[in-house]
Amino acid sequence: MKAIEIRNKYLNFFKKHGHAVIPSSPLIPENDPSVLFTTAGMQPLVPYLLGEKHPEGKRLTDYQKCLRTNDIDEVGDNRHLTYFEMLGNWSLGDYFKEESIAMSFEFLTKELQIPADKISVTCFAGDEDCPRDEITANCWKKAGIPEDRIYYFGKDDNWWIAGEEGPCGPDTEMFYDTGKPKCSPNCNPSCGCGKYVEIWNNVFMEYFKTKDGKYTKLKQQNVDTGLGLERMTMLLQGKETPFDTELFKPVMDKLLELAKVDDIASRRIVAEHLRASMMIIVDGGVPSNVDRGYILRRLIRRMTRHMRKLQIDLNSLGDIIDLNIETLKEMYPELVAKKENIKKVIIEEKDKFEKTLERGEREFNKIATRLKNENKDTISGQDLFNLYETYGFPPEVTADCASEQGLKVDTSEFDRLFKEHQEKSRMGSEQKFKGGLSGNGEMETKYHTATHLLNAALKQVIGKDVHQKGSNITPERMRFDFSCDHKLTDEEKQKVENLVNEWIEEGLTVTVQEMKKEDALKSGAECMFIEKYPDIVTVYTIGDVSKELCGGPHVKNTKELGKFKIKKEEASSAGVRRIKAILE
Ligand code: ALA
Repeated sequence: MKAIEIRNKYLNFFKKHGHAVIPSSPLIPENDPSVLFTTAGMQPLVPYLLGEKHPEGKRLTDYQKCLRTNDIDEVGDNRHLTYFEMLGNWSLGDYFKEESIAMSFEFLTKELQIPADKISVTCFAGDEDCPRDEITANCWKKAGIPEDRIYYFGKDDNWWIAGEEGPCGPDTEMFYDTGKPKCSPNCNPSCGCGKYVEIWNNVFMEYFKTKDGKYTKLKQQNVDTGLGLERMTMLLQGKETPFDTELFKPVMDKLLELAKVDDIASRRIVAEHLRASMMIIVDGGVPSNVDRGYILRRLIRRMTRHMRKLQIDLNSLGDIIDLNIETLKEMYPELVAKKENIKKVIIEEKDKFEKTLERGEREFNKIATRLKNENKDTISGQDLFNLYETYGFPPEVTADCASEQGLKVDTSEFDRLFKEHQEKSRMGSEQKFKGGLSGNGEMETKYHTATHLLNAALKQVIGKDVHQKGSNITPERMRFDFSCDHKLTDEEKQKVENLVNEWIEEGLTVTVQEMKKEDALKSGAECMFIEKYPDIVTVYTIGDVSKELCGGPHVKNTKELGKFKIKKEEASSAGVRRIKAILE
């Protein structure tokens, strides 16, 4: 069965069971600059899992384009992908465990014709936050899974949440037994040896985890499921890897034909990263040095490097992209419409990186000469790291070049430096995930009030449709993202800046009030993600220019802010602009 047939079967099956088929949200989340990419089907549905009414009803199904970036460096093995498609079905306070499990079992065994004896399942073992999920286990028994293929595991395996805070709950995972021998007498679905492959995850989302780690019950009992399409396609076709399915095979074969030296891991990296890059670009992504743009840049760079490693003429990239679009167009017709743009972005980025590679090689030669003059034979971790960090020259390429010249490399020192660096950027992205106000210092407080003034000024100058899409504050500057379909003109920027400064000079008082969320909204208070606020909210009012739901803190009077200055206005993502500003 081809991937697209599995997708269609899935959507039709759930449609038959009363679900509305909703479109995939873009890979780049529409209303949430704090998250880099959509990583699960539930992500665009969070407000509805928390209780808001969905216009299409309580039973939904879709295919969702997803990108997970934690494993970029693993791509090249036989299973890791960054981009993948997740099939999902949701109950928003409608059916729960029994019906969900019955439908999953029917879909797997009847529609996909997977023999029931190839399926094992896992359930939540229970802890102080939530009881052992025997209800789910019983539903499986009723469906036809015998007890010896029902396993219980703790939160690490059978609890699902996106990130640190949000709707969550115990889950039940379905595994396909590949028929490979057990790796040990205790081999089970959680062991990862490859005998059992996870195929579907049904989350029974009835909890909310707060930032401080507490669990509360949601208003409603939801079901959130996710089935990875590439993996299912591979299993049903009896293939060992997703790269052997029709989703990747034509490109993999083409790369083999073009390569002067073959390396299957490199071909997988090229094919996978190219597909992921195309999917990001088609949804509005552009390469840059930060956040989403940096992920895209990394994917294209890694792809370029591996094309070189395969000794493929980099001028054939355009043809490879054409072929990839041809391969995927039935599944993603949007690729065809944006083909020229996709090619332009990827090829330009590749061209830039080619130069980097050349510079890196030059730098490498300098280091090699220096070492030889000093009678040394090992490139230090620090040199490796500098080549990587400053010249984008990857350590494995350095190692290749080194061995050609009879030199060794100190990879363990490099690994240590790299880990240290990763830790720093992880902390950075966690900070980013928190979004908005990150500290309560004096400057941060001032900047926080300035974001409210900027928001109000943009509405006056550009129009009422301007909405905040995110913000990020440090003691040195503020960043503010907002919806807007055009680059601001110099005149618009000047007007916005003047207006904010007028309000500052007027010395407007800032007042705070607690009220019910619905009353706050009725009173016309602005807010960014309504679903993220509790029932009782605080509303900050600044003179008669701004009223926003917000956790504070703020200055008491706008006079405290000093002078507001816009430093930069630029695109953030499709339809979203970003202003960087300072207070002097
Ligand atoms: N949200 C669940 C997952 O991503 C279904 O696995």
